[in-house]
Amino acid sequence: MKKIQLLDFVVSHQINKIAILCDEKVWKLYPDYFNFLQEVATVHFISIDAKEKNKDIESVVFGWNFLLEQKFDRNSLMISWGGGTICDIAGMIAATFMRGIWLVNVPTTLLSMIDAAHGGKNGINLKYQKNVIGTFYLPEKVIVDTEFLKKLPNKEILNGFAEMIKYALIGNKTLWNELKNITEINYKTINPNWIDDAIEFKMKIVEKDLHDNEIRQILNFGHTVGHAIERLFAEKKRNISHGYAVAMGICYESYISWKKGNLPMKCYKDILHFILRFYKPLNFTKSDISALANYCCDDKKNKNEIVRFIILEEIGKATITEYTQNS
Ligand SMILES: NC(=O)c1ccc[n+]([C@@H]2O[C@H](COP(=O)([O-])OP(=O)(O)OC[C@H]3O[C@@H](n4cnc5c(N)ncnc54)[C@H](O)[C@@H]3O)[C@@H](O)[C@H]2O)c1
Repeated sequence: MKKIQLLDFVVSHQINKIAILCDEKVWKLYPDYFNFLQEVATVHFISIDAKEKNKDIESVVFGWNFLLEQKFDRNSLMISWGGGTICDIAGMIAATFMRGIWLVNVPTTLLSMIDAAHGGKNGINLKYQKNVIGTFYLPEKVIVDTEFLKKLPNKEILNGFAEMIKYALIGNKTLWNELKNITEINYKTINPNWIDDAIEFKMKIVEKDLHDNEIRQILNFGHTVGHAIERLFAEKKRNISHGYAVAMGICYESYISWKKGNLPMKCYKDILHFILRFYKPLNFTKSDISALANYCCDDKKNKNEIVRFIILEEIGKATITEYTQNS
């Protein structure tokens, strides 16, 4: 069914060249997945090791060169096939090559199914700063095939689940009440309806504010601190997954929501207990904490050196708040 949607798109748009920017691991696991496209178009695979350090300008230049050498034009299609890392690189290439070619996302991680593949943001890192270069460029289609979750390592399910928690906390109390009852997180316990709910919620927000000037920023709950944690780890040459950093970010930003906002202490404690059941807490030294505070001041949401945090007013309702750097 999912494949038919993609085939229809290719045929109806008379696309004859397709580049599939893929995660090399996923390609090995599902070598025949795109065979059906080869009957209607010339298909090239560009495989990338899906590591955060490869989300850089070199991967983008590699893609541009490939498309140029293979004489791709504005009616050619780029398919991203992998998790958020691949989505971000492919989106950036598709958005900029000849000022934009067709883009279809086929996400293979929970995180990319509910988040990275939707909403048109793409990005690469510069120095240690995450996603600081990028564009807004909507995919023509997103094909969500949950079969891919079956071979996804459990730590990656956990990674994506952090974004699911975020959606529940900022916009869907019913979802939060369902998530709270989960005793184990694995592909079998992920209800496909939760995936649909998360996508629907994200797209409603994106439709109102594609360019992330106001309301879309609530999707960043947990990410101001989460991105700062990722940067701290990158500078120390240590690994941390995006979702894990976001889970920790949600804990800190829920604390701020209680301390500086109106979130009842009981809600903050519920959130903390739930998250720490599945994600091991991180320990920070004093100098880590002051580095994290500085990195929060570099966040893309900030304006005129005023730091923007997303805080929870209650479970299921988030708001944007501004603090001066000394508060
Ligand atoms: N553009 C956006 O809107 C957006 C939103 C959220 C996150 N992101 C970005 O997404 C990135 C993280 O993405 P991610 O968490 O999806 O991780 P990822 O793409 O780095 O993949 C994680 C791991 O899972 C493997 N993998 C992927 N699919 C698999 C499958 N089906 N079976 C087995 N292994 C598989 C990959 O090879 C990799 O080792 C970060 O760079 C983050 O900044 C972007």
